[in-house]
Amino acid sequence: MKGPFAFFIHPLSIVDLYRAIPSFQNKSVEFVESVIKFIDPFVAVEMEIETSANERVYGLFIVIPLLSKQFVEDEKLAMSKLIKGSRLAIKFGAKIVGLGAFTSIVGKAGMNLVKNFGDVLYFTSGASYTVASSLEVLDIILDKRKMNKKDLNIAVVGATGAIGKAITKLVVRDYKKVFAVARNKTRLNVLKNEIKADNIFVSTDILASCLNSDVVITATSNPSEIIFSRYLRHGAIVCDISMPHNTSEEVIKNRKDVTVIEGGVIELPSEPKFKKLFNDLSWNDIIGFPENNVLACMAETIILTAEEKYENYSIGRNIDENKIMEISLLAKKHGFKVRLRKKESEITPNIGTLLK
Ligand SMILES: NC(=O)c1ccc[n+]([C@@H]2O[C@H](COP(=O)([O-])OP(=O)(O)OC[C@H]3O[C@@H](n4cnc5c(N)ncnc54)[C@H](OP(=O)(O)O)[C@@H]3O)[C@@H](O)[C@H]2O)c1
Repeated sequence: MKGPFAFFIHPLSIVDLYRAIPSFQNKSVEFVESVIKFIDPFVAVEMEIETSANERVYGLFIVIPLLSKQFVEDEKLAMSKLIKGSRLAIKFGAKIVGLGAFTSIVGKAGMNLVKNFGDVLYFTSGASYTVASSLEVLDIILDKRKMNKKDLNIAVVGATGAIGKAITKLVVRDYKKVFAVARNKTRLNVLKNEIKADNIFVSTDILASCLNSDVVITATSNPSEIIFSRYLRHGAIVCDISMPHNTSEEVIKNRKDVTVIEGGVIELPSEPKFKKLFNDLSWNDIIGFPENNVLACMAETIILTAEEKYENYSIGRNIDENKIMEISLLAKKHGFKVRLRKKESEITPNIGTLLK
């Protein structure tokens, strides 16, 4: 048995908490937010999985009790919880920790944790496989529709982040025009100078950039909806990688011409076996996906454990292109696949805001 790995999760929004802890249901949002600040990290799931290369992997999912917005609002509190969570992972014998959702956004995208734990514990944000699998699922849709990337404009929203930057560097080679979008102009200009391509246009204007594009990829650290119907041209394809999602529910309801897909959702090579599930909840209730699906960041942590590749893998905001290629090959070796939906334009309801 390989492992254990640890993976950090957190409630993306208040709805996740109301579902997981019924006694919170009649309490106000403000009350729940103030209470969870005092809860220490704890193990919510213990699971085992066999890969198609016959490696059995064991892992723990540790809850960092803070909402998405609390990570952004109080980075000091978030870091102290991440350090406690890492100590808990060490106590269980974990060698590597995957940083889910907003746990990878604070502390310089994992760099501060790496500084704190040296070679006692390794970290990965899972960004490499998130990039590889999101571009793969997008390519599958474009191929099906016989759409040629050379004829298409693409907007990358969150282009200066860990995931967005790596994606921008890759799509600039294939698409006609690339609109790289974020709020900070200085970082956008640094990106433009780094990429040095004639077809990249940096912008702080999401609306104009999306309206100019056939394809929109969004990977931001903004926990709210920022992509609306009026931003999208006829027949646009949106690939939403952000957790919680950035695409408004209203796009799915009102724009039948638009295709919305999720980036970074992976089908596991086998059904996982659960040794523990918090409060007798289901995997779907805790993670927000059916039992055979995980996020790419979780899959990356499982794959690295199956390979016993214990190192700081996807850390910081400069993701190495070689690692994107490598993890994609390792994923195939172990039988991990991008999840394709039967109905194309269907998105997991925003785990939290839209679910149930
Ligand atoms: N599916 C998966 O497995 C998976 C794995 C990892 C991460 N994720 C998700 O992917 C997203 C991005 O993660 P990351 O690690 O790349 O984050 P990051 O490094 O913190 O980058 C966030 C990016 O979003 C931009 N941004 C923030 N608010 C914005 C707004 N209102 N409008 C436009 N741009 C905005 C930031 O630039 P400015 O501050 O200049 O605006 C930056 O470019 C997160 O939601 C994360 O949870 C998913």
